[in-house]
Amino acid sequence: MYQSEDRSKTPAAATTAVLTGLGAWLPPREVTNDELCSHLDTSDTWIRERIGIAVRRRADPKTATGDLAVEAGSRALRSAGISSVDAVVLATTTPDHPCPATAPDVAARLGLGNVAAFDISAGCSGFVYASTVAAGLIRSGTATRVLVVGAETMSAIIDPEDRSTAPIFGDGAGAVVLEAGRPGQAGALGEVVWGSDGERGDAIVIPVGGSRNRDSRHSAPKADFSVRMHGNEVLRHAIRRMVAAATRAASAAGWEPADVDRLIVHQANARISAGVAAALGIPPERVPSNIAEVGNTAAASIPLLLAHAAARGSLQPGHRVLVVAFGSGLAWAATTLVWPAGVCAEL
Ligand code: COA
Repeated sequence: MYQSEDRSKTPAAATTAVLTGLGAWLPPREVTNDELCSHLDTSDTWIRERIGIAVRRRADPKTATGDLAVEAGSRALRSAGISSVDAVVLATTTPDHPCPATAPDVAARLGLGNVAAFDISAGCSGFVYASTVAAGLIRSGTATRVLVVGAETMSAIIDPEDRSTAPIFGDGAGAVVLEAGRPGQAGALGEVVWGSDGERGDAIVIPVGGSRNRDSRHSAPKADFSVRMHGNEVLRHAIRRMVAAATRAASAAGWEPADVDRLIVHQANARISAGVAAALGIPPERVPSNIAEVGNTAAASIPLLLAHAAARGSLQPGHRVLVVAFGSGLAWAATTLVWPAGVCAEL
């Protein structure tokens, strides 16, 4: 098994996972609402008012999720000031290939050697799920440092002719480094509250391309290889589930909603974020947002928002931060941390 150079320093007891590095990367091409309107029956006003998006990024067709992950991952490693980790965990809905996982290639291209590397598929909750798994590896002593990446090329799985999904999703990547530290230390991940509802899995689904329905792989229309979404149903469940999970995560940290300095909520729709914040009693000025400029970047959404909020000074050392996500599965997850000093986001 690969071991990083200072694995011998693994603390024996009361170890937890602490955020020590943060990075993000966006492909340069911006797609405006007006550009979408040239081939979709929609409008700039509808998209701004109903979703809250003005522009999203699209990777060029030769750029895959692994490329975005390498960019964000290298920035997170630089932010943490390290060049080795014990594991790479990549959350994505859009892996480079159905097989193998994308994380081993990302680890190799980052020069991380033969470390453990694997993907996690939990839709827009993927980054919080991946961080929870990484924190478990650290708490159990299996790893001392883990690179956790959320990266998506959503443009690869969106039907450009579908007005109910094409305006929403964007491409991008964000990453954090988690390292062994003490519980109670700033940056330590709090308890996770997570769950899933597989009975509503068809609310967001790509019908063809996996092992289900493989008989129709050659006859299915192209659109069946893209995301189908019952947006209204997703919206309803998103608010309900995120409010419940966030309430329990805050309570596990010993916080009342009024104690929360920053709510980092998955950027699905500005109305969803506003609904979650209102139900939690957290005022809008404590709810950073970047959906207007990046859209819904699925598993990349939370680390991208953390990086943008930190870089813009919206996240300050000592802030009590409540993180919550929701997406396909259906799956949701919430956790907490006190924002650490000395973590500079690399963009
Ligand atoms: N432009 C213009 N009109 C549109 C449109 C678009 N891009 N997309 C849908 N509409 C129309 C619908 O056809 C419908 O028309 P009708 O009343 O004539 O039938 C009307 O707008 C209302 O549709 P509805 O689906 O009820 O709208 P909504 O308020 O729920 O907003 C979403 C649609 C998709 C923006 C919203 O449901 C959403 O954001 N859901 C969460 C999606 C998400 O982020 N999922 C990812 C995982 S979290």
